[in-house]
Amino acid sequence: MATSTMEAGTTLLRTRWLKPSFAIEILDIDLPTASKDELLAFDDICRRTAVVVVRNQTLSDEQVLDVSGRLGKVSAQQYTGPHPKYPGISILSNKKVDGKYIGTPDAGRNWHTDGTTYAKLGLTTMLYGIECPPEGSDTLIADAAAAFESLPLERQRELEKLNVVHNRGHLIQKYNRAALSPEELAKMQDVIHPVVVKSAVDGRKSFFITNGSTKSVQGMSQEDGWALIKELIAYTVQEQFVYRHKWQDKDVLIWNDVGTLHSATPYDETKYERLVYRTWMRPFDVVSATTAIEELLPAH
Ligand SMILES: [Fe+2]
Repeated sequence: MATSTMEAGTTLLRTRWLKPSFAIEILDIDLPTASKDELLAFDDICRRTAVVVVRNQTLSDEQVLDVSGRLGKVSAQQYTGPHPKYPGISILSNKKVDGKYIGTPDAGRNWHTDGTTYAKLGLTTMLYGIECPPEGSDTLIADAAAAFESLPLERQRELEKLNVVHNRGHLIQKYNRAALSPEELAKMQDVIHPVVVKSAVDGRKSFFITNGSTKSVQGMSQEDGWALIKELIAYTVQEQFVYRHKWQDKDVLIWNDVGTLHSATPYDETKYERLVYRTWMRPFDVVSATTAIEELLPAH
């Protein structure tokens, strides 16, 4: 595919589309040694593009957090393979030490959206592949904006009126991630989001739907609500809307949670070991975005 520069951002970084208008690869940046201007250009591309790939990055644990911290406020991970030293990092791995998994071996193997149980939208997810199986374990990311826009206008209007009730306890229990006490469960309040949300960056509308945290669709029976969400997910994840990331060691894969759904895929765990770090960032407040980025720069 032809290389190009990102129109909206900068001429500093060479990029190429992996899936036009959806997934982009930045070709010539070395994140730990990049200049301030290159990093600002990187931030801009990540903010404006649903999916960003940067290959061949050698990052220490601290540098994974440095890069993640540019994209938003790194959120501590309690339930999904927390790193023993850096609570902002989740370990996705089938490796074992003393017979125990060092992280979560099988997280996210269904179509979902991260961050549906937070009231404020705009989260970003980053994966860093340290050891990647040569086959399997692809990460799939679906373009929920393109899927929504492909529907007839009348159907779009109907769906825009609907709201989904999400709950974090529901999500954790559904996948048996942890046993929650009644006190913990009581703290995990329902959060309501529209089925269709607007990107804060470009105003584009997209589906904001998921498997795990969905409790119900307001105003519909449990059964009808679920049938609708399943139908919309199946529509959104059709092949023409999906970018399939085939992992190489040292890949960085970043996506915005508004405008996408994603899914992990299995691999032969008897044959291969996988070690991937996941970080998850909540949005900077609009006013503090520039300051937060500037504060991080001296670290580089
Ligand atoms: Fe996820």
